[in-house]
Amino acid sequence: MSKEALIQGLNEDLAAEWGTIMRYTYQSGKAFGLRGAELREILEQEIQDELGHAAFLTDIIVDLGGEPTTTPNEFAKPDDLKAMLELDLKMELQDVENYNKHAKLAEELGEVELKVRLEEMAAEESGHARELRRLLKGV
Ligand SMILES: [Fe+2]
Ligand SMILES: [Fe+2]
Repeated sequence: MSKEALIQGLNEDLAAEWGTIMRYTYQSGKAFGLRGAELREILEQEIQDELGHAAFLTDIIVDLGGEPTTTPNEFAKPDDLKAMLELDLKMELQDVENYNKHAKLAEELGEVELKVRLEEMAAEESGHARELRRLLKGV
């Protein structure tokens, strides 16, 4: 497994983070009513985590000699709260999977700090998924 493959994988993660930051900001503006208010609160906290992830990935990609992407992944824009939450949950779980996959890649290349941090990020996304699952139960 090469360093180029790792850089490419991390850039996919970074594009996903930019997309999530935009999606959560967008959804925050479109979340109405009492449940919407609860969703807004959670999304606004999670945006801070995702910004931290994006900043870390940017630094690591530069350190590995790559060019960090500034292009976010496209995202769907459902109108109702339940569909928003289902989309977000699906995307968070996908992020968990990708971070775990890339942590293994980092380990194979002997990038110890990166491996550990990617696993921590997988754990944070998993926490986001748990919050969203809780919200979904009440919708
Ligand atoms: Fe993230
Ligand atoms: Fe997340």
